[in-house]
Amino acid sequence: RASGRLVIAIDGPSGSGKSSVAKELARRLGAGYLDTGAMYRALAWHCVHEGVDLDDADAVHAAAASMVLSLSTDPDLERVVVGEHEVTDAIRTPAVTGVVSAVAAVIPVRELLRERQRREIDEAGRIVAEGRDITTVVAPDADARVLLTASEEVRMARRSGQLTAAGATGVDAATLTAQVGGRDRADAAVSRFEAPAEGVALVDSSELDFEQTVQAVMAAVNEQAVDS
Ligand code: DC
Repeated sequence: RASGRLVIAIDGPSGSGKSSVAKELARRLGAGYLDTGAMYRALAWHCVHEGVDLDDADAVHAAAASMVLSLSTDPDLERVVVGEHEVTDAIRTPAVTGVVSAVAAVIPVRELLRERQRREIDEAGRIVAEGRDITTVVAPDADARVLLTASEEVRMARRSGQLTAAGATGVDAATLTAQVGGRDRADAAVSRFEAPAEGVALVDSSELDFEQTVQAVMAAVNEQAVDS
């Protein structure tokens, strides 16, 4: 079994495949997996559940400060609990996805969740952390940092495949492009994905299948982590 401290940071836009790639990397490296997007989603769910006014930044911040969140870091066990509520599936519904960008745009909320993310990373010691600002803000000192991208067409196609697999019907291409594009633009306020930050490896998965993508990210990780 693998041992020793190893922190790997992976960022990317929605549909880049970063969640499945990060999980697979964690399995192969015998590491934990931290889905930071799930933390923002849990907070969005919490705000909706508590009737918090999403336009009231102070109220959203207060909700974040009082939220009791427990998140599995086992790459084979997806489990998110807020207070007494198991919200693993609820945080992936359109109702939550539609408001999460607003919650994630509140600066003090980001500072608060960042501290929790850093704590999770420190406690785990050996972990693959994935999100939008992990390579730049949460863990700029990670042993390896990767920005995973894919062309817009490819990201739309993957999103569409995920929705179909989840049982959604009648989601047309235009609606999807508007939704994913809208989220990307809302998220761009906190992260830009045109170019990786200095020292961050860029992996473009547009022309790669899943295994090839995992291999490319693993190669970038090995290259960086070897001399740290
Ligand atoms: O990766 P995801 O779709 O589950 O992310 C959910 C939302 O949280 C999305 O709007 C981007 C935001 N997010 C963020 O702002 N910073 C992170 N580190 C991770 C996610």
